[in-house]
Amino acid sequence: MGSETESSGVTARTFESAPGSLEGVVVSEEETLQHVARLAAELAADYPEQQLVLVAVLNGAMPLTVQLLFALGDLGINPELESLNVDSYGASFASSGQPEVTFFSGEDRWNDFKDGSRKVVVVEDIVDSGRTIEVIRNFFAEHEVYAVAVVALLQKIGVQEVEVHVDHLGAKIPDTFVVGQGLDGGEQYRGLRDVRTLNPAK
Ligand code: IMP
Ligand code: MG
Repeated sequence: MGSETESSGVTARTFESAPGSLEGVVVSEEETLQHVARLAAELAADYPEQQLVLVAVLNGAMPLTVQLLFALGDLGINPELESLNVDSYGASFASSGQPEVTFFSGEDRWNDFKDGSRKVVVVEDIVDSGRTIEVIRNFFAEHEVYAVAVVALLQKIGVQEVEVHVDHLGAKIPDTFVVGQGLDGGEQYRGLRDVRTLNPAK
């Protein structure tokens, strides 16, 4: 037991003490829950025959992935879980090389998805330029994994630099930098329940 400095034993900290200034709510927690329920219902309706594999795009999509997992569980669906990382995002786009896609469960994990018996559901937090989703879609196509769908909680309006198809979308939002629901600003604010604008200047 640690020393208790308050009656609850927990010293209160606030998001307001982190860098930048939090501004308006763009998508509330309640709206997110509604989006998650709808997205789960869409997945259940659209892929009734296939085993689903939720593939979280680390790190920001962890919360959405977990929420989808439980919402699908409520519908009696048991998805497999996987996660991937798209490496050296900024640096790789500047060079000619493709960013590397790595799977948490091993580099050949995609091999299990080739026979088409599973629906690979890529779970992303937010689509901005669209390049992350493009890289992931290209990766699967190159490895002959064709049963792929993309779910994203958010997509910014009017800023995609590449044509990107999101099969199941929570909400479109204006082009503003947002945090919360897994989205970070300098690794801060991921645990904020509402998605809010972050003004980094203040
Ligand atoms: P894209 O490749 O430009 O579409 O960017 C997608 C990735 O950039 C997301 O997975 C996020 O990690 C990050 N990102 C884009 N916009 C925001 C934002 O407003 N807040 C936090 N992260 C963001
Ligand atoms: Mg991301």
